[in-house]
Amino acid sequence: MMNQENNSRRSFLKKSVIATGAFTLGGILPGFSAKSYNNIIGANERLQVSVMGVNSRGGALAQNFAGQSNSVIAHICDVDSRAIAKCKEGISKFQTHIPKEFNDFRRSLESKDIDVLVVAAPDHWHAPAAILASQAGKHVYLEKPCSHNPREGELLIDAVKKYGNVIQMGNQRRSWPNVVKGISEVHNGTIGDVYYAKTWYTNNRPSIGVGKKVAVPNWLDFELWQGPAPRMDFKDNLIHYNWHWFWNWGTGEALNNGTHMVDLARWGLQVDYPTLVSSQGGRYAYKDDWETPDTQVINMEFGRDKLITWEGRSCNAMTTEGSNVGVMFYGSNGALQIDGANSYKVFDVKGKLVREEKDSGIINTTSLSSPSQQLDAIHIQNMFSAIKNGANLNSDILSGHQSTLLVQLGNIALRAGKQLEINPANGHILNDKKTMGNFWSREYAKGWEPKV
Ligand SMILES: NC(=O)c1ccc[n+]([C@@H]2O[C@H](COP(=O)([O-])OP(=O)(O)OC[C@H]3O[C@@H](n4cnc5c(N)ncnc54)[C@H](O)[C@@H]3O)[C@@H](O)[C@H]2O)c1
Repeated sequence: MMNQENNSRRSFLKKSVIATGAFTLGGILPGFSAKSYNNIIGANERLQVSVMGVNSRGGALAQNFAGQSNSVIAHICDVDSRAIAKCKEGISKFQTHIPKEFNDFRRSLESKDIDVLVVAAPDHWHAPAAILASQAGKHVYLEKPCSHNPREGELLIDAVKKYGNVIQMGNQRRSWPNVVKGISEVHNGTIGDVYYAKTWYTNNRPSIGVGKKVAVPNWLDFELWQGPAPRMDFKDNLIHYNWHWFWNWGTGEALNNGTHMVDLARWGLQVDYPTLVSSQGGRYAYKDDWETPDTQVINMEFGRDKLITWEGRSCNAMTTEGSNVGVMFYGSNGALQIDGANSYKVFDVKGKLVREEKDSGIINTTSLSSPSQQLDAIHIQNMFSAIKNGANLNSDILSGHQSTLLVQLGNIALRAGKQLEINPANGHILNDKKTMGNFWSREYAKGWEPKV
């Protein structure tokens, strides 16, 4: 539970922030460098942030939080000592405060000064770490996917109910202005009654080869890297990033990149849980250690009215509708396309481009760690508003779970080799105890089972 000291510190923080007017949406004021502005505001008036997992995405998020006028990176946690050093250097461009370093993020959670834990460790860590942080009275910026399996998503919902903290999922497009505008056009009838959303992601990832069992490098605590996951041998083709393609730690391209666009599709179609899910695919492009599919199609039907599809091609970057990533909504009156950027296009029902809303900034949709720092800052500021003023989160944990669950069910259908009937009230698999038993949760390393 949040202790009294933390509560009073937070209410002090709220008052002092209102008094200084320091909380502007988007953070940095024009004419100030991030660093100079941060130095004017006392350290005590800023949210104290701890980041867990800083090699790539976590490093980009650390720089973003450090660049906000109302937060400071107080702790950096990683089991790779090199990643900590790299992150420390990266954030020194944005803040003068020198953060403390932790190998074990649980020691960071013991600190009463920390307000927010950012979780950007691999997927098997997301829910277990977020639950521990919730129990320690911290708010959580939780990278997508919010969970490794559906049960973990349900536990996160229970955690927020029990501990009353804020958890924002890191599907940052929910806060990008033109994406919000595009979705509201879908809701408001610009393309008529909308019944279908096609989503996709393509890349040209190389083979990861066949790994050799080697000694764990001295810069890595592999025991804590595995944490909640049952123990497997260290191999030389696993860390960093390639864990995404092993079921023990990763969740495949479907949850890695599918989550972003399937989330927009679900938001646009205004649906919660599906009724039917099927999926086909496999590791087709190469024969190597990669376990998850590199080519996959998922179909998610909502009653007899609405359909979402996702196509993932990890190893063939041929674009779809001119983009490597996107969602296309189809309605009775036209179509609306949102790609990876902060922009969208409206087409008439014959397929003619009618209008385009463009972003003025440059966004690299193929960037692995951060498509756009300034836009992502809006998502971060939305979380701060929820912490300070109880503002609605743009991606609360129920919504994060519902979107993550869709692609999780896709992976379950693929792995079970069958179409799944789903209970539209709660997303559970119907009439198939075996698949529910095999895939709804996972086995945990002893002592690491998440509990709320
Ligand atoms: N929202 C986005 O656009 C976006 C973009 C990229 C990645 N991500 C998400 O961010 C997460 C990280 O992705 P990545 O590409 O940075 O992966 P990565 O493998 O490059 O980095 C993960 C880091 O976590 C560290 N780590 C592992 N266990 C840890 C522990 N117990 N404590 C502290 N640190 C630990 C690793 O040592 C590594 O430094 C993934 O879940 C991914 O889905 C989101």
